[in-house]
Amino acid sequence: MPDLSTSYLGLQLKNPIIVGSSGLTDSVEKIKNLEDMGAAAVVLKSLFEEEIIMEMEETIHTMTNRNFVFPETMDYMETIVKEDLLLNYLELIADAKKAVGIPIIASINCVSSQKWTYFAREIEKAGADALELNLFFLPSDSQRGEKEIMEATFDIISKVKGIVRIPVALKISAFQSNLVRYVEHIDQSGVEGIVLFNRSWLPDIDINHLVMSSGFVLSSPSDLGNTLRWVSILAGRVNCDIAASTGVHDGAGLIKQLLAGAKVCQVVSTLYINETSHIFKMTEELSKWMEAHEFESINEFRDRLGQSNSGNPAAWERVQFMKHFRNFI
Ligand SMILES: Cc1cc2nc3c(=O)[nH]c(=O)nc-3n(C[C@H](O)[C@H](O)[C@H](O)COP(=O)(O)O)c2cc1C
Repeated sequence: MPDLSTSYLGLQLKNPIIVGSSGLTDSVEKIKNLEDMGAAAVVLKSLFEEEIIMEMEETIHTMTNRNFVFPETMDYMETIVKEDLLLNYLELIADAKKAVGIPIIASINCVSSQKWTYFAREIEKAGADALELNLFFLPSDSQRGEKEIMEATFDIISKVKGIVRIPVALKISAFQSNLVRYVEHIDQSGVEGIVLFNRSWLPDIDINHLVMSSGFVLSSPSDLGNTLRWVSILAGRVNCDIAASTGVHDGAGLIKQLLAGAKVCQVVSTLYINETSHIFKMTEELSKWMEAHEFESINEFRDRLGQSNSGNPAAWERVQFMKHFRNFI
């Protein structure tokens, strides 16, 4: 049997499949099932920065009405967690840690470093093995250019890294401008991992009622190409670990991402479509493929097709475009 084990963010994993942040990971029962089905780790459903701030502000509001707010109360507020949503999240981490042996990665969806970052420490204290920060910068935000996004990114990293010891990964958008430079900068900031990519809301148009509606929530295998492009370009350029997320639906998709240089793949949509037992099928496909190619461990082939040796990925892509589109009649 080939050895499927790998490491991610310094965590030892039995295989390279992590269940990504979603409704699939929002309870201890679901996480136990994912472990039974072969998942190597899970990323919990995200808390939103706004939820953390709102709960904190609601508590402050209640305290203000009762004349409880003093400067020291504000300090106190930044170090305690009072409300249900946040407590429930911390309980989920602690209970999941007791119930399963696989690593539990907490997740926060954030747009700034304001007020919420104290909660990263609470997450660490609850026992999370790592923290994934989903940076939600939208290209439709006309108030924030490349410079502001860069500043916000480093502000978030320095605040969070300043208070936790657990590894931190950043989940970023595929629509970020100047991705190579952006990721190289993030890498130098000391984070342990980068997740390519988060999934944006996709619009659609209802032509019968002439209104905007919601497009596909789940990805499809055809979404793999964009992630594959960026994993192969970036994996060999950075020291931190790259997790591929988006479009990995089967064993072949998993193998392609590993060949491109990913340390692990995060899967979500395929488990909604094919149920959680699909994890077992994917690890089996990986194992059989490794046997057929006489690979005993993942390190023997990981990053074999990455572009770390390409001095100029843009030039390489231009040649591929010319080669494959020009003669397509
Ligand atoms: C129903 C659903 C809920 C999700 N919730 C979250 C979330 O809370 N936080 C997050 O970072 N990503 C969330 N995601 C994005 C996934 O973690 C993942 O990045 C994305 O779906 C791409 O992977 P896939 O192609 O395997 O689905 C969600 C995705 C889906 C489909």
